Order: sequence, then C-alpha cells, then structure tokens
Amino acid sequence: MNVLVTGGAGFIGSHVVDALLRADHAVSVIDDLSTGTAENLAAARESGLTDADLHVVDIASPEAAEVIGRVRPEAVLHLAAQPSVSVSMRDPRFDAHSNLTGLLNVLVAAREAGTRKVVFASSGGTIYGEPRAGDLPLREDSPQSPRSFYGLSKKAGGEYVRLFAEEHGMAYACLALGNVYGPRQNPQGEAGVIAIFAARLLEGRPCLVFGDGHNTRDYVYVDDVADAFVRALDRGTGLINVGTGVETSVLDIHAALTKALDSDAAPHHEPALPGEVRRTYLSVDRAAEQLDWRPRLGLEDGIPRVIDALRA
Ligand SMILES: NC(=O)c1ccc[n+]([C@@H]2O[C@H](COP(=O)([O-])OP(=O)(O)OC[C@H]3O[C@@H](n4cnc5c(N)ncnc54)[C@H](O)[C@@H]3O)[C@@H](O)[C@H]2O)c1
Repeated sequence: MNVLVTGGAGFIGSHVVDALLRADHAVSVIDDLSTGTAENLAAARESGLTDADLHVVDIASPEAAEVIGRVRPEAVLHLAAQPSVSVSMRDPRFDAHSNLTGLLNVLVAAREAGTRKVVFASSGGTIYGEPRAGDLPLREDSPQSPRSFYGLSKKAGGEYVRLFAEEHGMAYACLALGNVYGPRQNPQGEAGVIAIFAARLLEGRPCLVFGDGHNTRDYVYVDDVADAFVRALDRGTGLINVGTGVETSVLDIHAALTKALDSDAAPHHEPALPGEVRRTYLSVDRAAEQLDWRPRLGLEDGIPRVIDALRA
C-alpha cells in the first residue's frame, strides 16, 4: 500500500515507518522536525526510504496539502502533533494549531487525494480524564472528560476524524495510545518518564517525581504500538485503545529502573504538574477483537531495551 506517515521522524512515527517498510509498503513521511529528527529515520533509510520520501513541512501549511496531493496516499497514518501535556497547558493556541488546524489540513488534502483510510494517533492517557471509581480499566465507551488542553485537542481531533470520514465515505480508526516508551524517545523531553529517568540514572543525576509518585499509567512498548498502526491499515474502526491493561505507578518505574541499573538512587519529589490525571490504564479487548492485536512486551523486557539503546 502507498502509505503517508505524518510525524514519521518522531519517536513513535519512526518505528511505524520501520514496521511499514518491513511489511513492504511504500512509505512517505511529512514532518517539520520540530521534535522529531532525521536520525530517527536512519534504519528506514537502510530499508530504502530516500530523501525524496521525507517532506519537511508543517502539517498546517499549504505545502503539506500539496505534498499529499502529489503522493496520493491510499492510507494516512496521522501522528504529527504537539505531543506534550505541559506545553498545551502553557500554550493552548499552539497545541490547537498543530493538533486541530494541522489535522484538518491533512484530512481535507487526504480526501481530495482519494485516501481510503485515516488512522489517527489519539491519547488513551488523556482523553478520558480522571476516571471515576469503577471506570478502570478505561474502555472506549468510558466518559471522556480531559483535564489538559492536549487531551482536549486529542478528543476533539478524534471526533473530527470520525465525522470527516463518515461525511466523505472514508474508513478511519483512532488509536488511543497508552504511555508509549522505547528506544528513540527523547530523554531531554518533557514527557516519557522511562527515557527521562533512565538517562538521569545513567548520568548519576536524581530523578524528579512530580507529586507523590503514586499516579499510575499504562506503559506500552513502541514496537507493539507500531504493529497496531500497521494492522489498522486494513482493519479496525472507531476508537481503539492500545495499551497493556497493566497499571504502573511512577515510583514502580523508578524502582524497576534502579533495580535494572543496580542503583540505590532515591527520587526527588516536586509539586504535581497541572493537567495530569492521577490514575489511568486501558482495557485492550477491542484491539484484540478488531486488530487481532495484543501487547507482546512487558516492562520487565522493555526497560532493559531502553537502557541498552541509551547506552549505545
Ligand atoms: N508518546 C506517547 O506516550 C504518546 C501517547 C499517546 C499519543 N501519542 C501521540 O503519538 C504521536 C507521536 O508522538 P511521539 O511521542 O512520537 O512524539 P514526537 O514528538 O516524537 O513525534 C511527533 C512528530 O510530529 C512532528 N510534528 C510536530 N508538529 C508538527 C507539525 N506542525 N507539522 C509537521 N510535523 C510535526 C515532530 O517533529 C515529531 O517528529 C503524537 O500524535 C502524540 O500526541 C503519544
């Protein structure tokens, strides 16, 4: 299939590109390299991705629409976004520019180019907001009440994709990702606690825990997420959670990393950050039914891979 990956030079997007190339799809990438890097595509280049396949443009720009018109992708995997909760709380206009205006620019251009399916990277950790007692694990029909502007733009983005696809007879899926981790995640970024803690522990620096550290997330390995995107090319519709169904606290992550690194470092606590939910983890039954997908790697196998990649 002729597939366009927006955000393909990013952490998750570059693994999606690698998985698509392994499955013999023809791949083009749109990415403005704002948080992604050309280096993330080094493996893809070895598998045949060329300079001409990487289009360095803003998804909200007319140039991005022109690229989509030229490439005429059969499927668009839309991962380009402003991906940070804290950036969205400081600058909600910037968040909406990438995550809503940019998304709409891609949707309109994809329809005009005859694209048959759009797969949107939504966020299972933020669209549902703070779960009520009895709502965990979060299911796709759980109430959605985001606590951050990022969660709100991802919730609204998913609704735009649904209505746009229904209006124009396109297929679509919104993959609500848990907290994705793995090699290539930026340890200098504001999100990605496993990469940040692992890098700090390797450098002998303390890890900062915002709040008491008992807040929980559903950590899912990036190769499993890339596999879900590839499967969604020809199956699956609507909102689909992509996580593990396992709830892990920040302090558990710290303990797993110190154990793996044989370190006795204690975390430093800072005040909790605005916009962050206290507890979340995802039911993944729908992904099993619709995509025949299950997470293959748990934290006990994933964490050593992150450490190895950072050391390398
Ligand atoms: N990392 C997670 O745990 C997680 C969880 C849920 C959802 N997501 C979503 O998955 C997607 C990928 O996230 P990631 O963690 O790989 O982050 P990332 O920052 O590594 O990837 C985002 C990519 O999009 C590009 N980009 C950003 N704004 C752009 C714009 N206006 N035009 C063109 N390119 C642009 C960046 O350069 C980057 O390569 C995002 O949509 C994010 O919201 C991530």
